[in-house]
Order: sequence, then structure tokens, then C-alpha cells
Amino acid sequence: MSGCPFRGRQTQHAVPSDLQDNCDRSQDGTAQSSKLTYGDYLQLNKITQAQELQSQKKGCKIHDEHLFIVTHQAYELWFKQILWELDSVREIFQKGQVRNERNMLKVVSRIHRTSMILKLLVDQFDVLETMTALDFFDFRKYLVPASGFQSLQFRLIENKIGVPDSLRIPYNRKHYKDNFKGQENELMLQSEIEPTLLQLVEQWLERTPGLDPDGFDFWGKLKNNTDEGLNEEIADIQSKPASEAKEDMLCELNRDKEILTALFDEKRHEHLLSKGERRISYKALQGALMIYFYREEPRFQVPFQLLNSLMDIDALMSKWRYNHVCMVQRMIGSKSGTGRSSGYQYLRATMSDRYKVFVDFFNLATFLVPRPWIPKLNSSLHKFLYTAECGDCSYFSSEESD
Ligand code: HEM
Repeated sequence: MSGCPFRGRQTQHAVPSDLQDNCDRSQDGTAQSSKLTYGDYLQLNKITQAQELQSQKKGCKIHDEHLFIVTHQAYELWFKQILWELDSVREIFQKGQVRNERNMLKVVSRIHRTSMILKLLVDQFDVLETMTALDFFDFRKYLVPASGFQSLQFRLIENKIGVPDSLRIPYNRKHYKDNFKGQENELMLQSEIEPTLLQLVEQWLERTPGLDPDGFDFWGKLKNNTDEGLNEEIADIQSKPASEAKEDMLCELNRDKEILTALFDEKRHEHLLSKGERRISYKALQGALMIYFYREEPRFQVPFQLLNSLMDIDALMSKWRYNHVCMVQRMIGSKSGTGRSSGYQYLRATMSDRYKVFVDFFNLATFLVPRPWIPKLNSSLHKFLYTAECGDCSYFSSEESD
């Protein structure tokens, strides 16, 4: 095992205190590590002995049940890693450590890592699909009443990212939490109370520099520019001679006007929030749009990457649901699930936008305007956004003035 991570001493670099993990780096683990074996370190005896075929136990060993078990276990291990990353990112936000910009890179890389894992999980269904419906049928009876619906870690991921209870598809007239008892139920409850990744990102976006109406006033300026721009375009089209093309252009522009006018209507935003069609506050939406427009400014580059990676997570979760439901239909058709749901019908319903957490970031593209309408940065904000980092600045917390 060349390049083995648990052999030898690693070069130590000076790490700023707020970036360090909780560990005592002064201890030299070399002496102890030399006795450690690969199997011990990874506790492989536990993992490789945890495949107990129900069919074999019932005296009728079915070959493909082994694949079924290993696949689920691999999923659960990756779910564990996703939770590990999500918890660490939520902690960075909760402790206010994002105010130090260097931590933002950590946040973005962990969210990106999460999306890479999800990508793997989306593709992993291909391996299980080498099992035929008949092969599955041979041992499915032995699984009842166990079901993926009881995956604690999957539910924790959904909750910690920010899937709200109120938008969940009802399952068999039972609450999804009813499947979890004792400590699992407590973990479930806890995940509903703790701030979700969505809420933490929302709070962070609300502090985007440049939003303060007494400062740069991005929103006020954008609204004025948009009103002026739209009026100019309408006047321009109206000055053209009557034609079918002119009517089409006016029609399209009026549609754009409707969309953009609605963007600046805070009451409408609140209404959409109450219906679950928007998920972040009005101010956070403004912050996200600001990052979107000025993404090339050095200070907004990492935040822009974060918004993109969060969308990746949503998109990949949707792909996971899609690949899962396609596989389910292939394996059991329209039979009900071992967890007693309607099976394919129930799972298909979970593929809607209700389960999309960062839906507002996807919708940002609806509000793109021509570049000349984007407010020009004033010199102080431009300088602030251009300076990639300063010693003691509190990122996304300072508000500049005009
Ligand atoms: C032959 C393969 C599979 C079949 C036929 C199948 C079938 C089903 C069905 C019918 C449900 C709905 C609940 C129920 O009534 O039981 C379900 C839910 C679920 N399954 Fe699978 N599944 C398969 C593989 C997997 C794999 C590999 C995973 C990976 C962890 C998985 C994870 C889940 C999860 C997390 C749910 C809950 C989804 C939700 O409520 O949104 N399943 N599965």
C-alpha cells in the first residue's frame, strides 16, 4: 500500500486556528500506527460479515440477494459520508465561521464533494439493475416488511438539507416519522428542529454586501433600471410600423414585464413562500440575484460556486429519485412496496418540485436582465468586492456606504 495515509508522519503546515479540526496535532501517532493493519483500521471484519442472506437463512439461498444487500449497504455508507459533510458545513455556518472568507472554500468544497457522492449514487443503480425482476421476485418475499422507506439516513439527509415536512407526499396515511422508534425517532425530531442547510444559506445571503437601502441599494437601483429599460424597449417597438412581428415582440416583452414586475412585488413573494413555491426570504433572494449578476467580482466567485453546487445537490437528488423509481417499476411493476406504499405511484409523486430545496436558485435564471440594466457598482463596493480578502473583514456582514 504505497502512499498509505496511516503510515508515517505528514508534513505540518501552519493552519489558522479557526480552520483547524478538533485534534491534537502535537501527538505523533507513528509508534501506534505501525501495529495497525488495514483490516483493523477499516474494521473490515464487521463490514464484510454483515451480509446475512434472508433466503439462505430460510434454507433457499438466492444468489442475487447478496448483491441486493451489498448495494444497499454501500448506499448507506455513502449516506453516512454525506451526513458527515452536511453536518460540518452546517456547523461552520452556525458558528458564524463563514464570516472568515477562508472557511467559504471549505464549505464549497464539502458541498461539491457531497454532489460528487450523489452523482456516484445516481449511477450505482446500474449495478443493481443487472439483477432481473424474476431474480428479485425469488427473494423479495423474505424482505417483508422491511423497506427503503425506513432508511433513517436518507430521511436525515432530506431534513438537514431542508425538505419541509409540510411538502412531503403522504405515505399510506402514516407520518414518515412513524417508522422510527426510540433513538432513531429522537434523531429524526432533532433534524427537524435544527437549522437546515437552506435556512443557514438563507441567513448568509441576507447579509450580502450591497443590499442595504441606505448603502449601495442594489434592489432599488435594479428596479429603477428595469422599469426604465422596459419602458425604453416598449417605446422602441411601438415606434416600428405595424406588423405581425411587431405584435409578437410586444407580446413577448409584456410577458417579460409581468415577470420582472412580479419580482419586485414583496407581497407576491410572501404569497409564494406560503405556498412553498419559493423557499427563501425576499432579502435572501435579492442577495442570491446580486451574486448571480456580479459573479465575476473576486469576492462573489466562491459564493457563486456555492449556489451552483447547491443546485447540483437538488438536481442529483431528483436524478436519484428518478433512477430509483425507474428501477422499482422494472423490478415490481405496479405492485405495492414491501413498506406497503403504492410503490411506483408513491415514488413517482416524490419526483415533483416539492422536494426541491434550492428551487429559488434555479429560478434566478428567470430574472436575468440585459447587462446594461445591471446597476454599476460604486467605487467603494467595487473595491470591497475586488479585494479577495482582507485581514479582519467579516464577509457578508459589512455594509458599505455610497
Ligand atoms: C430492487 C431494488 C429496489 C426496489 C424494488 C425498491 C422499492 C422501493 C419501494 C416500493 C419503495 C416505496 C416504499 C415501500 O412501499 O416500500 C422504496 C422506497 C425507498 N427506497 Fe427503494 N427499492 C429498491 C432499491 C433501493 C436501493 C438500492 C436504495 C438505496 C438506499 C433504496 C432506498 C429507498 C429509499 C430511501 C426509499 C424511501 C423513498 C421516499 O420515501 O422518498 N431502494 N423502494
